[in-house]
Amino acid sequence: MLYNIRKVTDDLYYVGGNDHRTHLFENIHPIPEGVSYNSYLLKDEKNVLIDTVDWSIVKDFLERIKVVLNGEPLDYLLIHHLELDHAGAIEEVILRYPDVKVICSEQGFEFMSQTGYEIKEENKIIVKEGDTFSFGKHTFAFVEAPMVHWPEVIMSLDVTNGCLFSADAFGTFGALDGKLFNDEVNFDRDYLDHMRRYLTNIVGKYGAFVQDVLKKAAPLLPQVKFICPLHGPVWRNDFGYIIGKYDTWSKYEPEEYGVLIVYGSMYGNTERAAQELASDLCEKGMTNVVVRDVSSTHVSYLISDAFKYSHIVLASVTYNLGIYPPMKDFLNDMEALNLQNRTIGILENGTWACTVGDKMEDFLDENMKLMDVLNERVTINTSLNSANRSDMDGLTDALIESIKNLKELKAKKADK
Ligand code: FEO
Repeated sequence: MLYNIRKVTDDLYYVGGNDHRTHLFENIHPIPEGVSYNSYLLKDEKNVLIDTVDWSIVKDFLERIKVVLNGEPLDYLLIHHLELDHAGAIEEVILRYPDVKVICSEQGFEFMSQTGYEIKEENKIIVKEGDTFSFGKHTFAFVEAPMVHWPEVIMSLDVTNGCLFSADAFGTFGALDGKLFNDEVNFDRDYLDHMRRYLTNIVGKYGAFVQDVLKKAAPLLPQVKFICPLHGPVWRNDFGYIIGKYDTWSKYEPEEYGVLIVYGSMYGNTERAAQELASDLCEKGMTNVVVRDVSSTHVSYLISDAFKYSHIVLASVTYNLGIYPPMKDFLNDMEALNLQNRTIGILENGTWACTVGDKMEDFLDENMKLMDVLNERVTINTSLNSANRSDMDGLTDALIESIKNLKELKAKKADK
């Protein structure tokens, strides 16, 4: 079919699209592989458009709706989430289909009003937790999903065919470019990092709410045949895989035992120390190590890595008697996104008055939860030298020992 329209089921059409032109999602997060804005059109006795798209792809989107409707009316517009990457085209849809009835949560209608969308009172249908609505053959059941990741969010399950419309949940950065289903892509290779970066940076703060939704959705899962998120592939199998990832991330549990070394270096000396530490770890057998420059790595990638790995080494130069500003930004973001339950190593540098290690440790103690700072700190005065050897060994050994202990603890828990 022309117009890049694909079918999810016999009567459910994918009418969303890809955006490769926007460089920063929410004007913050880089999306070098693009993003998809997913929208679906259900053809039943009544035709239902399920969410809209970002303004950037509105022209193609409206064309796809017209093609799928093929002269039939659009009866309903079901909106799960009001962030404008999905709600950006609501007004355009209503202008073209003025009799369309809009289905949304009560707070969703408030947000529409705040955005300037004028919906006639007689065209508003408010739904809440536990409500159902029939479009003919298909009946939808509604589930509220507050703070995943806005307060007005609802999800819906088409109980007739098992399509779960999950709003942003299970969404990911990365355009689809023709693919539609999870089994049409190499998800681990091409999307997992995008999904983690999307989830942790956008929903990371609201882990407890994600947990609530996962618990609420658990009894529905036997009915679910498709998970249709607002970004990225539609899932039609392997649900345990993504639910498991969401469960891990939202509980702030590390996905992997390994060491993320983030360094802030002005002239290369702290960088060299960070690289030395990475070599030492690998030499001693801990090879799941990544090294990132805090000055040149967008913080959204650092956050994604911080959620991924069990251990984080903060290697920073002292700046204005405090924390190097890009490192402080990283710490602030970790705090804002509620990251917790990590083991931290500290490597500090200062030509005089080396204060950054204490400042970083104080920040972790005072602002973050369950951050276990190792005692084995490395302090460098300008550049690494032989006098630092034993401290470097101490930190390396402490990291390896800590990973071993965590693995053993997990194995014991699994045995119980
Ligand atoms: Fe994809 Fe929260 O919007």
